[in-house]
Amino acid sequence: KRIAVLASGSGSNLQAIMDAIERRDITNAEVAVVISDRKNAYALERARQKSIPVKHQSSKNYQSREEYDRDLVTYLTEQQIDLVVLAGFMRLMTPHFVAAYPNRILNIHPSLLPAFPGAHSVRDALAYGVKVAGCTVHFVDEGMDTGPIILQEAVPVYDSDTEESLHERIHELEHRLYPRAIELWVQDKIKIEGRRCFIND
Ligand code: GRF
Repeated sequence: KRIAVLASGSGSNLQAIMDAIERRDITNAEVAVVISDRKNAYALERARQKSIPVKHQSSKNYQSREEYDRDLVTYLTEQQIDLVVLAGFMRLMTPHFVAAYPNRILNIHPSLLPAFPGAHSVRDALAYGVKVAGCTVHFVDEGMDTGPIILQEAVPVYDSDTEESLHERIHELEHRLYPRAIELWVQDKIKIEGRRCFIND
């Protein structure tokens, strides 16, 4: 399977995915391209280091989210992409994009959804005072962090935690969970019924 990873930031999840493919924890799949809306995203550098093609698609050249996503879908279709993996891609996907890849777009989010969707979930969780945080891998639909949940795991929140220390604990979890979810998808082991995903492992 040909995977496109979309990332706006540091790309530590991308790194975990590339490493998992090298270790053969993910089989029969390759990262075919890494795409970013930010030219200086370190994710692009990580891809270059592995000789994976990269593409920078800036939102500055587009009038609307729809136009941006149309070009993206055209490109992904040309590249014969089977699975789209969002790894810190800070854009909401439009209905056109979601319809082009039904049950073929994954996202990872640093909270136990449906708690704390959005861009500041770790900060929001700390501010709320929760004692358990975590991360969620889910299919992407048109909403913000709302699609069917594939995998979800928890970590404790300590009194001494800052946003950084908690996010670091969640990141470690993400780096294990995302490759696992991708392998399950690639092996066609995820069955979706309504909002519920069942794993046939
Ligand atoms: C992760 O915490 C992910 O859950 C969120 O954005 C962050 C991306 O981190 N969607 P990285 O760029 O993979 O290091």
